[in-house]
Amino acid sequence: MRDILPPESGRWRAFDRVFAEVVEAAGYGELITPLLEDLGVFTRIGDATDVVTKEMYDFVDKGDRHIALRPEMTASVCRAFAEHRPTLPWKVYYSGSNFRYEKPQRGRYRQFDQVGVEVLGADDPHLDVEVIALAWEFYARLGLRQVNLIVNSLGEPDDRSRYVEALRAHFTAAGQGLSEQSRATLDRNPLRVLDSKRDIDQEHIAAAPRIAEFHSDDAAAHFEAVLAGLRVLDIPFTIEPKLVRGLDYYRRTIFEFQGGTLDSAQNALGGGGRYDGLVEALGGPPTPGVGFALGLDRTLLACDDEGVFPAVPTMLDAFVVDVTGGLQAVALTAELRLAGIAADRGYDNRSMKAQMKLANRSGARFALIVGDDELDAGTVVVKPMSGDGEQIAVARSQISSYLASHPRQN
Ligand code: HAM
Repeated sequence: MRDILPPESGRWRAFDRVFAEVVEAAGYGELITPLLEDLGVFTRIGDATDVVTKEMYDFVDKGDRHIALRPEMTASVCRAFAEHRPTLPWKVYYSGSNFRYEKPQRGRYRQFDQVGVEVLGADDPHLDVEVIALAWEFYARLGLRQVNLIVNSLGEPDDRSRYVEALRAHFTAAGQGLSEQSRATLDRNPLRVLDSKRDIDQEHIAAAPRIAEFHSDDAAAHFEAVLAGLRVLDIPFTIEPKLVRGLDYYRRTIFEFQGGTLDSAQNALGGGGRYDGLVEALGGPPTPGVGFALGLDRTLLACDDEGVFPAVPTMLDAFVVDVTGGLQAVALTAELRLAGIAADRGYDNRSMKAQMKLANRSGARFALIVGDDELDAGTVVVKPMSGDGEQIAVARSQISSYLASHPRQN
């Protein structure tokens, strides 16, 4: 878990703002859910997943409830839906921290942030297209260019079950030819063997049955409709039959956005899919759902690698240098801030030289200097801190309007 200092923290907030702009323009409203839930909410994500079995921060609270910090937000959204029964379709977005007890490394943290959307109550494949397009638009707004969209369909639950059994038979036949780790995975979740990056497993993975052979007509038609929509929007994609995703609740469409600059174990910038069935598992009526979550931490690493979406330090307009005792600075900064002008000041009644040094370091556009002469004359010296502008004396009463009429040139 990390501390995020300014100006990097400002970049995090800007990330959230850009995301909100993109999705609010498509009719999504923000949903805020608690950081922790009853453990049972998250076990519905799937007891065959590492997220649930190994990585949960769970504990018993003082009221003897077994609860957990959220490892992701889709389950909380479905729990909230089941509780509040909003009108359909329910289009929500979220942003915030999640917790997974993973092995920390670059791009993988125990507390990490996500932004995401979920749509509950509509089965339309065009919604799958809509959410993918929103993520795509968001990456474009950040300026990222090296993002690859990969898609797959896990079929209906029956298709998926038949596929899982076919995989189990296929990988079991490989016997000792499979890595020890994959043999352990096979017991729990044959789908995840397809994720193995170990050399020894590759030949068996390549020869494994393909999910498409198990798609029902409905599942195949739904997937085709998604692909047709992506083509209409000119969103490039690759169909990846080995894509399974790490959470158990998926059915039909699944997708992932991979960054071109990150190590392959951490290159998933975001992912999502359909999870028809999760609301029901959480006590609500049968309700289709689709959505995605994008990892903030990793996406910002990708932005660093591509040199886009930099952190921008907060820009000050004015830095008040008061060598008359400090009360002038109290009044002047308050007045400027009220007028929407970003202003800071020196403290502890330091010398003119020391305060000018702070003014310089602050990055403010102007130093506003008040000495005894200015106090007597009712003026303030306005000194431009960059360029070759001359310093001038401005009437104290005119100072806000003077600064407002000299806006920042971008
Ligand atoms: P997920 O694939 O587990 O899906 O996580 C989504 C994204 O969160 C990942 O692609 C990655 O960028 C980021 N992420 C996950 N774990 C970590 C970590 N330990 N450190 C840094 N970043 C991480 C979900 O969470 C689903 N709820 C997505 C979804 C929404 N599906 C449907 N709706």
